[in-house]
Amino acid sequence: MVLERHSREYVETRVRAGVLEQGTVDILRDSGVGERLEREGLQHQGVELRFGGQGHRIDFQDLVGKSITVYAQQEVVKDLIAARLGYEAPIYFEAEAMQIQEYDAQPRIQYQFDGTSHEIACDFIAGCDGFHGICRPAIPAGQLQIHERHYPFAWLGILAHVPPASHELTYTYHERGFALLSMRSLEVSRLYLQCAPDENIENWPDDRIWQELRTRMATQEGFVLRDGPIFQKGITPMRSFVTSPMQFGKLFLLGDAAHIVPPTGAKGLNLAVADVRVLTRGLVEFYKTGSLEPLRQYTERCLRRVWKCQRFSWWMTSMLHRFPNEDSFSHNIHLAELDYVTRSRAASTTLAENYVGLPFDTPGLF
Ligand code: DHB
Repeated sequence: MVLERHSREYVETRVRAGVLEQGTVDILRDSGVGERLEREGLQHQGVELRFGGQGHRIDFQDLVGKSITVYAQQEVVKDLIAARLGYEAPIYFEAEAMQIQEYDAQPRIQYQFDGTSHEIACDFIAGCDGFHGICRPAIPAGQLQIHERHYPFAWLGILAHVPPASHELTYTYHERGFALLSMRSLEVSRLYLQCAPDENIENWPDDRIWQELRTRMATQEGFVLRDGPIFQKGITPMRSFVTSPMQFGKLFLLGDAAHIVPPTGAKGLNLAVADVRVLTRGLVEFYKTGSLEPLRQYTERCLRRVWKCQRFSWWMTSMLHRFPNEDSFSHNIHLAELDYVTRSRAASTTLAENYVGLPFDTPGLF
């Protein structure tokens, strides 16, 4: 049973992430929801790192033989909803979970639906209710370990009706701060600018945003960034956050309910899918054989990947952003690291291997 606090329309149109690892694409395809993704997703064989006015391509296909797919999260959500409703399994939209009880014995969820209170008894609860949901706070604080880091900057993100200025994602390090060119389709660009964590969006009229993007992304070859109508603007805070353990009795935490990554490197959605994969395998094993063993290993299996993605996202964030009060020494360290990452095959391979997604079934690696 799926309880969704928002309306179907809201979750199908809310703009979130957009970059899928190859392993995420494989899971969606194997789950029978890959058809539109395969047709409409944009396959990218690499990304560009830009600094000192020059672009440097990291060729995923050449380095690790894999690629990434640009396909908006809300499209994945649409496909999942259509598939589930297609086999007549219910989704309760605008159903708000209020309270969780006895998650270690016979879990129950109290929820509001259609103006009345309901209660459901569960075998297991999958807490996929995000960072601000009720599942994580249902666990007594003393039983949770939180590992956290806040970054002294944020991202100002826009969506614009203009074809992407480059056919691959472009991560730019500049003395004025980070900039990222991404996309949602061949007609819609997604762009981000590093800004102050308390930045007021009112101070950023469209012209100022385009101007700042052009300044940061300028190249010696005369890169041209055309503007177009901006139809969405927002500020994304940056933090790293990990909850341990990720399970309590029969309650499991997945995705943002358990961990947050800073957006650099686009790991958030992929990590949530990886949690789902581990939990699903455990549940299938339980219902097939009665064994709880794989479910008991849920935290350990998930956290191995979570921490590797945390490390990668933290590293990409640190390498590409300006921290407050950086001096010329720090600036040159950024440039040296980027020069190394783009020129050394070993270093490029490290970036590529993490970016396309670490393999799922290699013992010791995942
Ligand atoms: C996007 C976001 C990211 O954090 C990233 O690293 C790449 C792309 C995006 O929203 O398109």
